[in-house]
Amino acid sequence: MKIEGKTVVITGASAGIGRACGKAFAAEGARCLLLARRGERLAELAAEIRERHGVEVLDTVLDVRDRRAVESFFGTLDGGWAAIDILVNNAGLARGLAPIHEGDPCDWDEMIDTNVRGLLNVTRAVLPGMVRRGAGHVINIGSIAGHEVYPSGNVYCATKHAVAALTRAMGIDLLGTGVRVSSVDPGMVETEFSAVRFHGDEARARAVYEGFAALRPEDVAEAVLFCATRPPHANVRELILMPSAQAAAVHLHREAR
Ligand SMILES: NC(=O)c1ccc[n+]([C@@H]2O[C@H](COP(=O)([O-])OP(=O)(O)OC[C@H]3O[C@@H](n4cnc5c(N)ncnc54)[C@H](OP(=O)(O)O)[C@@H]3O)[C@@H](O)[C@H]2O)c1
Repeated sequence: MKIEGKTVVITGASAGIGRACGKAFAAEGARCLLLARRGERLAELAAEIRERHGVEVLDTVLDVRDRRAVESFFGTLDGGWAAIDILVNNAGLARGLAPIHEGDPCDWDEMIDTNVRGLLNVTRAVLPGMVRRGAGHVINIGSIAGHEVYPSGNVYCATKHAVAALTRAMGIDLLGTGVRVSSVDPGMVETEFSAVRFHGDEARARAVYEGFAALRPEDVAEAVLFCATRPPHANVRELILMPSAQAAAVHLHREAR
């Protein structure tokens, strides 16, 4: 399917995978609606995309955890932007890495509120229009952590297992509506993810990727674009994309330094 002229919503577009998705879809001629909490970052990306690709871009500060704000934003989108063709549910985070008996419940709340409730808030606001129009595509960014669990990854893994379950459940509920549902589930990607996980401890975040060829956000964006461009009769349900140097969540090959 051609992407040119389609309207694409990307949550968490201010960094990492979401930002790369914005660039990748814009390069194919999509109109991009970019959402995240850091407005300055979004505005910079929007300006760059407009200049480079000449497509329409709307950037708006939106916290996916805020259900009322999400409902109000999507409920009042003007005509040109109201018909959303593709939703990339990318906004998400890990907070902390601790055994379950030592974990910080505030970290747990933030992950559950963002990765599960946030994804549901946006999906619930966007899907009725897709179903009414008989066309649309929801692409969830899951994770290898939705297929496996790893030591101290407990609650983050649980949220990504929830995303995997929701992708499958949505696929069933939307059968016959013309709306497709996919998930792209990456292994390790070098983004701000680890800095966020370790509450800004950059040295600890850097160490995660040391001696290891992680995926680039652009690799994931390409996979998302692949899902979005299948012909109407074909759908990618789950696409697991791993670095060549990662066999499973905790099985990595690091080059000696
Ligand atoms: N990096 C990896 O190794 C990896 C692997 C598998 C899956 N993933 C998944 O990929 C997705 C993107 O992560 P990333 O690696 O690109 O991390 P990142 O560089 O930290 O980007 C995360 C994005 O999510 C946004 N976000 C976080 N909380 C939000 C909220 N409440 N409302 C709106 N936006 C919010 C952030 O924007 P603001 O802070 O500006 O709001 C940012 O744009 C996540 O779902 C993550 O779980 C990552």
